[in-house]
Amino acid sequence: MASATGIGKHMRQETPAGTSAPAGSAPAAGSGAASRVLDVQHIEKVYGSRNNITRALADVSFSVRKGEFVGIMGSSGSGKSTLLNCISTIDSVTSGTVLINGVNVTAFRPSRLTRFRREQLGFIFQDSNLLDTLTARENIALPLTISRVPARDTLARVEDTAQRLGITEVLDKYPYQMSGGQQQRVAAARAMVTNPALIMADEPTGALDSKNARLLLECLEAMNTSYQATVLMVTHDAFAASYTHRVLFLRDGRVFTELNRGAAPRQEFFNRIMEVVAVMGGEGSDAL
Ligand SMILES: Nc1ncnc2c1ncn2[C@@H]1O[C@H](COP(=O)(O)OP(=O)(O)OP(=O)(O)O)[C@@H](O)[C@H]1O
Ligand SMILES: [Mg+2]
Repeated sequence: MASATGIGKHMRQETPAGTSAPAGSAPAAGSGAASRVLDVQHIEKVYGSRNNITRALADVSFSVRKGEFVGIMGSSGSGKSTLLNCISTIDSVTSGTVLINGVNVTAFRPSRLTRFRREQLGFIFQDSNLLDTLTARENIALPLTISRVPARDTLARVEDTAQRLGITEVLDKYPYQMSGGQQQRVAAARAMVTNPALIMADEPTGALDSKNARLLLECLEAMNTSYQATVLMVTHDAFAASYTHRVLFLRDGRVFTELNRGAAPRQEFFNRIMEVVAVMGGEGSDAL
C-alpha cells in the first residue's frame, strides 16, 4: 500500500519499475503475472543514426494489471508518445520486450500486427480522428464491422457503450454536427466498443475545455470501473492524471518515479501529483 505522505518520503520509495506490481492501486485486480495485461521490460528506443542519435527511451520497465487506470506524465520530449507508440506496436523498439497478456508483441510480423492492434488495443488521440462521412453510430461500430461481428451484436454493443458514455443523443449525427467534447466521447466509445485488452490514450483531453475534459475523464473512469477496462493515458495535465490509480513520471526517457493513489480521494492525489510536478520542474525539466 502506498503511503499517502509527502513527496520527499514518497519519491523513489515506490515499487521499483519492472518488479511486481504495487498493491492497492487498482480495484479487484488479482496478483501475479496472470493478471498483468502489460509488461514492459527494459525497452529502449533510439532514433537516428551514428552522428545524430536521440535516445527517446532508455531502459523503461513497468507492468500494468487488468483493470488499472495508469497515467504517464513528463515534460515535452521525455518520451511519452514514443512509449505509447512502442507499446501499441505503431513504432518498433530498439531493444527490450513488450508483453500484452503474456504475448511478446515486439516479435510479431507486420501481417499479424494489424489484426492484433484491431482486436486487442483501443486508441484515443488528442483529435478524435472520426471519419467525417460516417455517423457517430457508424464510427463507433467500425472496429466491430471490420472484425465481422454480426450486425445485431454490433448494434447492441454500440448502444450499450453509448449509453454508458452518455452520448446516445448524438448517435445519428455526423462529426461536423457534434461539439468537440461529443466527438471525443464518440472516439472513446469507438476505442472501447471491442472491449480491448488495453486502451491507450495520448493527451485525450488536450483539445478540450475543462468541462468536456472532466466529462471525458469521467467516461474513462466509468469504463474502467464498469468494464474493468485497462487504460494507459498520457497527459500533461495533473487534473487529468488525478483520475488514474497510478502515475508514472518520465524524464529523459526513463521512469523518474511513480505515484500510487491507493485509497486517497482524487483531490489529495492531485496535490501529490502537483508536488512531483513541482520537484521535476524544479530540477530543470520543462514545465509539464
Ligand atoms: N521519429 C522521430 N525521429 C527522431 N526523433 C524523434 C522521433 N520521434 C520522437 N523523437 C524524439 O524523441 C524524444 C521523445 O519524443 P516524444 O514524442 O516521445 O515526447 P513526448 O514526451 O511525447 O513529448 P510531448 O509532450 O511534446 O508530446 C524527443 O526528443 C523527440 O524529439
Ligand atoms: Mg507526445
